[in-house]
Amino acid sequence: MLQSHRLGYVTAMDAITLLKTDHKTVEKLFKQFEKAGDRAILTKGKLVGGMVKELSVHAAIEEQVFYPAVRREVENAKDQVLEGLEEHHVAKWLLSELDGMDPEDERFDAKVTVLIESVRHHVEEEEETLFPMVRKALGRKRLAEIGAQLDQAKKAAPVHPHPRSPDAPPGNVVVGAIAGAIDKARHAFEE
Ligand SMILES: [Fe+2]
Repeated sequence: MLQSHRLGYVTAMDAITLLKTDHKTVEKLFKQFEKAGDRAILTKGKLVGGMVKELSVHAAIEEQVFYPAVRREVENAKDQVLEGLEEHHVAKWLLSELDGMDPEDERFDAKVTVLIESVRHHVEEEEETLFPMVRKALGRKRLAEIGAQLDQAKKAAPVHPHPRSPDAPPGNVVVGAIAGAIDKARHAFEE
Protein backbone atom coordinates (compact mmCIF):
# COMPACT_ATOMS: atom_id res chain seq x y z
CA MET A 1 0.00 0.00 0.00
CA LEU A 2 2.70 2.38 1.11
CA GLN A 3 4.86 1.36 -1.81
CA SER A 4 2.19 1.80 -4.46
CA HIS A 5 1.32 5.16 -2.95
CA ARG A 6 4.94 6.21 -2.95
CA LEU A 7 5.44 5.16 -6.58
CA GLY A 8 2.25 7.01 -7.55
CA TYR A 9 2.29 8.13 -11.15
CA VAL A 10 5.32 6.03 -11.96
CA THR A 11 3.25 2.83 -11.75
CA ALA A 12 0.27 4.27 -13.69
CA MET A 13 0.01 3.17 -17.30
CA ASP A 14 1.22 5.99 -19.49
CA ALA A 15 -1.27 7.56 -21.88
CA ILE A 16 0.15 6.04 -25.04
CA THR A 17 0.43 2.54 -23.57
CA LEU A 18 -3.17 2.80 -22.37
CA LEU A 19 -4.47 3.89 -25.78
CA LYS A 20 -2.44 1.20 -27.54
CA THR A 21 -3.86 -1.42 -25.19
CA ASP A 22 -7.35 -0.26 -26.19
CA HIS A 23 -6.37 -0.56 -29.85
CA LYS A 24 -5.25 -4.17 -29.24
CA THR A 25 -8.53 -5.02 -27.52
CA VAL A 26 -10.49 -3.73 -30.50
CA GLU A 27 -8.22 -5.45 -33.02
CA LYS A 28 -8.90 -8.76 -31.25
CA LEU A 29 -12.64 -8.23 -31.73
CA PHE A 30 -12.05 -7.39 -35.41
CA LYS A 31 -10.02 -10.58 -35.97
CA GLN A 32 -12.65 -12.71 -34.23
CA PHE A 33 -15.33 -11.12 -36.40
CA GLU A 34 -13.37 -11.82 -39.57
CA LYS A 35 -12.93 -15.45 -38.51
CA ALA A 36 -16.59 -15.96 -37.61
CA GLY A 37 -18.50 -17.81 -40.31
CA ASP A 38 -21.41 -16.31 -42.24
CA ARG A 39 -23.88 -18.18 -40.08
CA ALA A 40 -22.35 -17.29 -36.71
CA ILE A 41 -25.11 -14.74 -36.15
CA LEU A 42 -25.04 -14.73 -32.35
CA THR A 43 -21.25 -14.51 -32.18
CA LYS A 44 -21.13 -11.68 -34.69
CA GLY A 45 -23.83 -9.75 -32.83
CA LYS A 46 -21.91 -10.12 -29.57
CA LEU A 47 -18.61 -9.07 -31.15
CA VAL A 48 -20.19 -5.97 -32.63
CA GLY A 49 -21.71 -5.18 -29.23
CA GLY A 50 -18.16 -5.31 -27.86
CA MET A 51 -16.90 -3.02 -30.63
CA VAL A 52 -19.68 -0.51 -29.92
CA LYS A 53 -18.77 -0.36 -26.25
CA GLU A 54 -14.98 -0.40 -26.57
CA LEU A 55 -14.83 2.14 -29.38
CA SER A 56 -17.36 4.48 -27.79
CA VAL A 57 -15.39 4.64 -24.55
CA HIS A 58 -12.06 4.89 -26.38
CA ALA A 59 -13.21 7.74 -28.64
CA ALA A 60 -14.77 9.62 -25.72
CA ILE A 61 -11.69 9.54 -23.49
CA GLU A 62 -9.39 10.42 -26.34
CA GLU A 63 -11.60 13.40 -27.17
CA GLN A 64 -12.04 14.51 -23.54
CA VAL A 65 -8.48 14.08 -22.31
CA PHE A 66 -5.85 13.10 -24.85
CA TYR A 67 -6.59 15.27 -27.88
CA PRO A 68 -7.04 18.51 -25.91
CA ALA A 69 -3.76 17.91 -24.04
CA VAL A 70 -1.97 17.15 -27.31
CA ARG A 71 -3.35 20.29 -28.97
CA ARG A 72 -2.18 22.40 -26.04
CA GLU A 73 1.18 20.81 -25.44
CA VAL A 74 2.49 19.27 -28.65
CA GLU A 75 3.67 21.56 -31.43
CA ASN A 76 2.45 20.83 -34.98
CA ALA A 77 0.00 18.14 -33.85
CA LYS A 78 -3.16 20.13 -34.57
CA ASP A 79 -3.81 18.72 -38.06
CA GLN A 80 -3.34 15.16 -36.80
CA VAL A 81 -5.81 15.77 -33.99
CA LEU A 82 -8.37 17.35 -36.33
CA GLU A 83 -8.08 14.38 -38.67
CA GLY A 84 -8.46 12.03 -35.72
CA LEU A 85 -11.68 13.79 -34.69
CA GLU A 86 -13.13 13.37 -38.19
CA GLU A 87 -12.18 9.70 -38.25
CA HIS A 88 -13.87 9.22 -34.87
CA HIS A 89 -16.90 11.02 -36.24
CA VAL A 90 -17.23 8.63 -39.18
CA ALA A 91 -16.67 5.61 -36.93
CA LYS A 92 -19.35 6.83 -34.49
CA TRP A 93 -21.94 7.08 -37.29
CA LEU A 94 -21.22 3.51 -38.35
CA LEU A 95 -21.29 2.37 -34.74
CA SER A 96 -24.59 4.13 -34.09
CA GLU A 97 -26.10 2.32 -37.08
CA LEU A 98 -24.66 -1.01 -35.98
CA ASP A 99 -25.75 -0.53 -32.36
CA GLY A 100 -28.74 -2.85 -32.04
CA MET A 101 -28.81 -3.72 -35.77
CA ASP A 102 -29.93 -7.25 -36.64
CA PRO A 103 -26.81 -9.25 -37.59
CA GLU A 104 -28.96 -10.91 -40.25
CA ASP A 105 -29.59 -7.58 -41.98
CA GLU A 106 -27.96 -7.74 -45.41
CA ARG A 107 -26.08 -4.48 -44.69
CA PHE A 108 -24.61 -5.72 -41.38
CA ASP A 109 -21.40 -7.46 -42.54
CA ALA A 110 -20.58 -4.72 -45.05
CA LYS A 111 -21.01 -2.03 -42.43
CA VAL A 112 -18.72 -3.89 -40.03
CA THR A 113 -16.13 -4.35 -42.80
CA VAL A 114 -16.09 -0.60 -43.49
CA LEU A 115 -15.88 0.12 -39.75
CA ILE A 116 -12.91 -2.23 -39.39
CA GLU A 117 -11.12 -0.70 -42.38
CA SER A 118 -11.53 2.85 -41.15
CA VAL A 119 -10.61 2.10 -37.53
CA ARG A 120 -7.48 0.22 -38.66
CA HIS A 121 -6.47 3.24 -40.74
CA HIS A 122 -7.05 5.55 -37.76
CA VAL A 123 -5.06 3.30 -35.42
CA GLU A 124 -2.17 3.11 -37.87
CA GLU A 125 -2.02 6.90 -38.22
CA GLU A 126 -2.06 7.36 -34.46
CA GLU A 127 0.51 4.71 -33.71
CA GLU A 128 2.86 5.63 -36.53
CA THR A 129 2.59 9.41 -36.62
CA LEU A 130 0.77 11.04 -33.71
CA PHE A 131 1.93 8.90 -30.77
CA PRO A 132 5.66 9.17 -31.60
CA MET A 133 5.28 12.98 -31.84
CA VAL A 134 3.53 13.04 -28.47
CA ARG A 135 6.04 10.75 -26.82
CA LYS A 136 8.88 12.93 -28.04
CA ALA A 137 7.26 16.17 -26.89
CA LEU A 138 5.93 15.12 -23.48
CA GLY A 139 8.01 13.59 -20.73
CA ARG A 140 7.34 10.32 -18.93
CA LYS A 141 5.81 12.10 -15.98
CA ARG A 142 3.32 14.06 -18.08
CA LEU A 143 2.38 10.95 -20.08
CA ALA A 144 1.73 9.10 -16.83
CA GLU A 145 -0.46 11.98 -15.60
CA ILE A 146 -2.50 11.94 -18.81
CA GLY A 147 -2.69 8.14 -18.52
CA ALA A 148 -4.22 8.47 -15.08
CA GLN A 149 -6.74 11.02 -16.39
CA LEU A 150 -7.70 8.70 -19.26
CA ASP A 151 -8.17 5.88 -16.80
CA GLN A 152 -10.40 8.08 -14.65
CA ALA A 153 -12.41 9.32 -17.66
CA LYS A 154 -13.14 5.70 -18.64
CA LYS A 155 -15.33 5.30 -15.58
CA ALA A 156 -17.83 7.97 -16.70
CA ALA A 157 -17.50 7.60 -20.48
CA PRO A 158 -20.52 6.82 -22.68
CA VAL A 159 -20.71 3.16 -23.75
CA HIS A 160 -22.77 3.92 -26.84
CA PRO A 161 -21.81 6.19 -29.76
CA HIS A 162 -23.14 9.75 -29.82
CA PRO A 163 -22.16 11.10 -33.25
CA ARG A 164 -24.24 14.26 -32.91
CA SER A 165 -22.69 15.28 -29.58
CA PRO A 166 -19.79 17.74 -29.32
CA ASP A 167 -16.39 16.08 -29.56
CA ALA A 168 -14.16 18.86 -28.23
CA PRO A 169 -14.00 20.72 -24.89
CA PRO A 170 -15.83 22.12 -23.09
CA GLY A 171 -19.01 20.68 -24.69
CA ASN A 172 -17.87 17.06 -24.83
CA VAL A 173 -16.84 16.98 -21.19
CA VAL A 174 -20.27 18.12 -20.01
CA VAL A 175 -22.37 16.22 -22.55
CA GLY A 176 -20.09 13.17 -22.31
CA ALA A 177 -20.70 12.82 -18.59
CA ILE A 178 -24.46 13.08 -19.09
CA ALA A 179 -24.39 10.63 -22.01
CA GLY A 180 -22.29 8.25 -19.92
CA ALA A 181 -24.84 8.33 -17.10
CA ILE A 182 -27.76 7.84 -19.53
CA ASP A 183 -26.01 4.91 -21.24
CA LYS A 184 -25.41 3.28 -17.88
CA ALA A 185 -29.02 3.82 -16.81
CA ARG A 186 -30.13 2.31 -20.12
CA HIS A 187 -28.07 -0.80 -19.39
CA ALA A 188 -29.36 -1.06 -15.84
CA PHE A 189 -32.90 -0.88 -17.26
CA GLU A 190 -32.24 -3.55 -19.88
CA GLU A 191 -30.59 -5.97 -17.46
FE1 LIG B 1 -8.59 7.56 -31.80
